[in-house]
Amino acid sequence: MPRKVIVDLDPGIDDALALCMLLFDPDWDVVAVTAVGGNVPPHVATRNAQALIAYLDPPRIPRIGAATAPERGLPVDGRFANSVDDLRDASLTVAELRTPHPSEKLLTDEVRAAPHAVTVLALGPLTNIARAIQRDPEFPVLVHRLIIAGGAIQVPGNITPAAEFNIYCDPHAAKIVFASKAAKTLVPLDVTNRVNFSLSFLNELPPETNKIGALLRKILPAKFRAYRQHLGLETIHLHDSLTYLAACRPDLFRYEELAGDVETVGEITRGATIFDRRPVPAWQENRLEVAVGIDAAAIRLELLKRLNAAAQAAGNVESPP
Ligand code: RIB
Ligand code: CA
Repeated sequence: MPRKVIVDLDPGIDDALALCMLLFDPDWDVVAVTAVGGNVPPHVATRNAQALIAYLDPPRIPRIGAATAPERGLPVDGRFANSVDDLRDASLTVAELRTPHPSEKLLTDEVRAAPHAVTVLALGPLTNIARAIQRDPEFPVLVHRLIIAGGAIQVPGNITPAAEFNIYCDPHAAKIVFASKAAKTLVPLDVTNRVNFSLSFLNELPPETNKIGALLRKILPAKFRAYRQHLGLETIHLHDSLTYLAACRPDLFRYEELAGDVETVGEITRGATIFDRRPVPAWQENRLEVAVGIDAAAIRLELLKRLNAAAQAAGNVESPP
């Protein structure tokens, strides 16, 4: 029996790859895809989510939630701040949603409709999840689990020296989510940075004739270019796709339960995630299951396996994206 899931995302190249795998994964029933601003502004995130779903045409079309800007605005233009992470190379087109539902409404509605059964994969800033908690105070106890791509424990940030991108974009939202009673898993940079994908990954993608292969072959080269130009790296990291894999194969990760909080006001530490790792932690609330170890070789194989299975299910391209 497939497990219900909502994916909250800011597509984003890595988000798009995760979505390709998830939408065709028979282990999951994707009840909603909720957009959030981050890598791209909110209206672009919504349009990209819509366009990806329209292009991929999965067996079950999920509901789509529309993104709106966080109360304090987005602190960065994500397109440049986090390595030019958008889908412009795919030239996807789609009509505007006729009756857009805010992402946080879909989150609370779907979790209410199936109490304790819906997992939420949070692959972008935590704006929508915090709003869902504020909109429905029972959301944290009704959601099955939040699996969050974000944070950095002992490694540097990827948007500032102190902060990981998703948390940095809306630290106030992240603070609310960390403090909530929801069961939470955090997949931080400490583990996602350990899996490197070199240019040869492009040769391992499904063929150009395949729907998913055609899309990824258009959008992934920009990520390699951006990592080289902005970070001086020849390999890329796929934080969101690995977070999806953490939901599918938790056995390929090692976890510690930690109490964590988020810096919201620091002059140079905004968005830093702080964990109380002292022998007797002061914070009794804010408990998170944090991924601290990863079987990098097995994860790589798992990604290729699930990507190829998704590509087979998606079928061949009728007209190129
Ligand atoms: O820090 C990782 C996040 O930033 C991911 O969600 C990815 O989309 C990137 O832009
Ligand atoms: Ca993302």
